[in-house]
Amino acid sequence: MMLEKESLELLGNALETLERGFGTLPEPSVLTSDDDRLVTVMNEVALRMQNNYPYFHPQYAGQMLKPPHPIARAAYALATWINPNNHALDGGRASSQMEKEAVAQIVGMFGWREHLGHLCGGGTMANLEALWVAGQLHPGKKILASDQAHYTHSRISSVLGMPFAAVPTDNRGRMDMQALATILKTGEGGCVVATTGTTGTGSVDSLPEILRLREQYDFRLHVDAAYGGYFSLAGNLTPEVRASFDLIGKADSIVIDPHKHGLQPYGCGCVLFRDAGLGALYKHESPFTYFTSSELHLGEISLECSRPGAAAVALWATMRLLPLIRGGEFGLMIENSREAAVQFHQRLTQDPRWLVPFAPELDIVVWAPRARTASQISALSQRVFDAAAKRGLHLALTRLPVRFFSQTPQAIEPDRDNILCLRSVLMKPEHLAWLPRLWEILSQAADEVAIP
Ligand SMILES: Cc1ncc(COP(=O)(O)O)c(C=O)c1O
Repeated sequence: MMLEKESLELLGNALETLERGFGTLPEPSVLTSDDDRLVTVMNEVALRMQNNYPYFHPQYAGQMLKPPHPIARAAYALATWINPNNHALDGGRASSQMEKEAVAQIVGMFGWREHLGHLCGGGTMANLEALWVAGQLHPGKKILASDQAHYTHSRISSVLGMPFAAVPTDNRGRMDMQALATILKTGEGGCVVATTGTTGTGSVDSLPEILRLREQYDFRLHVDAAYGGYFSLAGNLTPEVRASFDLIGKADSIVIDPHKHGLQPYGCGCVLFRDAGLGALYKHESPFTYFTSSELHLGEISLECSRPGAAAVALWATMRLLPLIRGGEFGLMIENSREAAVQFHQRLTQDPRWLVPFAPELDIVVWAPRARTASQISALSQRVFDAAAKRGLHLALTRLPVRFFSQTPQAIEPDRDNILCLRSVLMKPEHLAWLPRLWEILSQAADEVAIP
């Protein structure tokens, strides 16, 4: 079986239960699925959807794409029969409560006693909110994020009309502390964005060092843990990386995306603030929505208005099944991803065909075929990528500065300033077990390309 289908039965049974909750109402007429046109269109949809890389399969080891857990899929679908809107309690009574509980469980990973937070469309929307709050509190001051931070930080800053500066990185893709200190000395910094797991290489900015700078300079600390946040549960990080993850709770705001490592369908990001009093910044009038209850409506503390209650229901169900605890089933899945990256990195470094700039800090591995010049390496990366894809192994490509390769045994002739590299995010729970197979295909691709 390629695609999991057992959740369909789960869904069917749960729909019966849901329906019984509304049994006192007279029956409405419903769209029936025995209409031939529905069958035709649905079949067309399935055929159209065949035009995709196999994101659900372990041989897809490219971008950050992790299939939702079957419980998330079933719970999301179930909720769409109600289609709750988590803007206000009249639109999504049960799902708003489930969102508050789900968000509180995520907060538990970072050890806060109080918080303000909610789900949203994804990492970009969540970061936008965090930077918007930073701008309210430090108007006119710069947002500082590393040159390896997600590209949306500079774009969000420009959308918000806030000045932005990119802080240079060291040769492992982490924010350079000297460079950060130099900018902070000018007094222009208002918010430092620390990325605990960059999108390109999974590099982790040093929170111990950034927090030391916060003792000297006045800035907000925002942690973009959109991709990396769930590694807080992993027991197999290096001591250096663990030290940063242990300090995420010292941030003023955090972004973590359940739709990346949290087994959720797309459309599930999360923004958290340590100071619950910041809700006052969101104050607005909405005369037509907040009338059913004096309890907190999530729309009162979020920038978006309508939001899918189904996303909260799916997340709640997933965490009910797989609570966010260290050593628990979900925590072990995260550890497996990290272990897959460590083992993959080991294989690469022991094979003379490959150049590896540095060891993975989380579960993203970057590497490139060995050659003399940056251009030759880049051309070979593209060819290996194509040859692997032809054999059903789907990797990703990324451009990295040549200086990232300064630790490799062989010096590279820098005839251009970046190198096109191969990249894998080994984030599927099955990746560790599939590593030998992935390696075999990669080796065949390398043989075909005849890496010198
Ligand atoms: C570190 C980081 N921040 C932000 C984002 C943006 O998240 P989204 O694509 O959910 O908007 C990403 C996406 O990969 C990311 O890796």
